[in-house]
Amino acid sequence: MLVTLTSAELLAIPFYQALHDVTQSPALKAIATQVLRDEAQHLEFQADNFALCARSRGDLGKMVTILLHWIAMGMASILVYTLHAKLFRRAGLSPLQFWSIAFRAYEPIFKKMTERFVPIETDLRAYLR
Ligand SMILES: [Fe+2]
Repeated sequence: MLVTLTSAELLAIPFYQALHDVTQSPALKAIATQVLRDEAQHLEFQADNFALCARSRGDLGKMVTILLHWIAMGMASILVYTLHAKLFRRAGLSPLQFWSIAFRAYEPIFKKMTERFVPIETDLRAYLR
């Protein structure tokens, strides 16, 4: 249930971003902006829920949870992109860019699930040097 709800919220980020960028309607732009703000807060809330649910799981359980969520999200992202391909193409988003935006939105959840391993303040670019 939590995975399904959160996947929808994660995929809403590139969807409403594309809608915002493509529409000529100021009202629809304002609605899309508000939805994006709301979803960002929802994702922070869901990150806490995921961390709470995973608290009793061991490292392997947390890894499996994250992996299953990524698989579910990956499959859902293919479906959403396909159903709204016209919008995403007009916004200049390829399927990979769409997927990338949704997975970057997963960051708060990933951080909460793994904060024992990676401090929240850690800049992951430090690992790329
Ligand atoms: Fe939401």
